[in-house]
Amino acid sequence: MAWLRFICVWFALIGVSVRVAATCDARRGKTTCVTEDLLEMLMRINSNRGRDWDKQIRPAFFSTLSKSVALSNSNKVLIFEGVKVNRGGGYDPSTGIFTAKRDGLYHFSCVILGDSGKDVGYQLNKNDSLYVKGYSNNGHHDASSISVLVELKKGDRVYIKHRHSGQTEAVLGSDHSSFAGYFLQD
Ligand SMILES: *[C@@H]1O[C@H](CO)[C@@H](O)[C@H](O)[C@H]1NC(C)=O
Repeated sequence: MAWLRFICVWFALIGVSVRVAATCDARRGKTTCVTEDLLEMLMRINSNRGRDWDKQIRPAFFSTLSKSVALSNSNKVLIFEGVKVNRGGGYDPSTGIFTAKRDGLYHFSCVILGDSGKDVGYQLNKNDSLYVKGYSNNGHHDASSISVLVELKKGDRVYIKHRHSGQTEAVLGSDHSSFAGYFLQD
């Protein structure tokens, strides 16, 4: 039978071996049952793939600041737009925000190089709350860094934002400043 051969080839191609008991009631007609069982198999395959993705992907990103940023009177999020690594796609270079796609323990680090003669007060946020503070002194291109461990739930956000207001501060770009994070363990 042609359709049976097609289904066998199809399963061989996607490399999935599944045994699904036919749950459909055959009294309602053979064609209907075949269709329902196939639909059920497809749904199971797809939901298994979702779980596998959660287990296999270990989010990791590293992004640098390409352009220098002036931070006068604002507490804006620092957007490190020069993405070098973004496994799992959790880091969004248009907003500067990392979103956890799985629960777990994560490590984050950030290097901030203040533009010459300018202080830079900044902080790492977990969602909308301060998690840890960073500060670069106003020496000649003084750099500072923060390195943290954070427990995250799926959907939690982590980002770097400016902390001080009322002062002119500036962060040096040209790949001198960077933001990185990666999943460590469940
Ligand atoms: C963090 O924010 C996300 C999305 O806005 C939300 O789903 C989550 O529950 C928040 N987590 C905490 C601990 O408030």
